[in-house]
Amino acid sequence: MLTLDLPTFPVLETDRLRLRQTTLDDVQPIFSMRSSAIVMQYIPIPLATDVKEAEDYIHSLDERMKNNECLNWSITLKETGEMIGTMGFYRMQLQHYRTEVGYMLLPAFYGKGYASEALQRLVDFGLNDLGFHSLEAVIYPENKGSIRVVEKCGFVREAYFKDKEYHNGKFVDTAIYSKVNH
Ligand SMILES: CC(C)(COP(=O)(O)OP(=O)(O)OC[C@H]1O[C@@H](n2cnc3c(N)ncnc32)[C@H](O)[C@@H]1OP(=O)(O)O)[C@@H](O)C(=O)NCCC(=O)NCCS
Repeated sequence: MLTLDLPTFPVLETDRLRLRQTTLDDVQPIFSMRSSAIVMQYIPIPLATDVKEAEDYIHSLDERMKNNECLNWSITLKETGEMIGTMGFYRMQLQHYRTEVGYMLLPAFYGKGYASEALQRLVDFGLNDLGFHSLEAVIYPENKGSIRVVEKCGFVREAYFKDKEYHNGKFVDTAIYSKVNH
């Protein structure tokens, strides 16, 4: 069983980004993302309609972190401090040294390499510092940008499920990409 030894929340840095704990100060950008049909197009969670749902979500992250179920970071620009998205380990399975990864950015920041830059850091931290053995990402096949992000970070497709989920009125396929620490 993997034991996480985190006396304080781990702040992570890359060339352009600082990944820090999500707080209630992030409620507006989190609401913007979770209420956006563009951002949530490939994520099977109902669109948020009230800012209170974003607040509840932030509280739930704290709760799930206490229970060793997730670790969520806010992605911020080092230069300005602006919060541009979130990324984290979700549905952690410490008994299997495995976790899912997930991420979303505000659309204004798509296409600048930020998601790949942040995920590369998280992969390194997860496998080499925390001691996870494998990471997985669950991605809808039409989500080409997300597939490219994980592939750039060394994930490979391991599974493909037909009509696995019902999302926005239709059945959709899902693929699992993973990275194993050999
Ligand atoms: C997926 C997401 C995080 C990507 O963020 P990003 O910062 O734009 O990603 P990056 O710039 O690091 O890399 C994107 C890569 O995908 C490519 N890409 C983006 N959209 C693409 C598309 N429609 N078809 C093919 N490639 C695409 C880019 O060209 C880039 O590849 P490159 O570096 O080889 O040029 C962002 O689009 C997002 O937040 N989407 C909504 C939430 C979401 O779907 N999350 C993932 C759920 S599994």
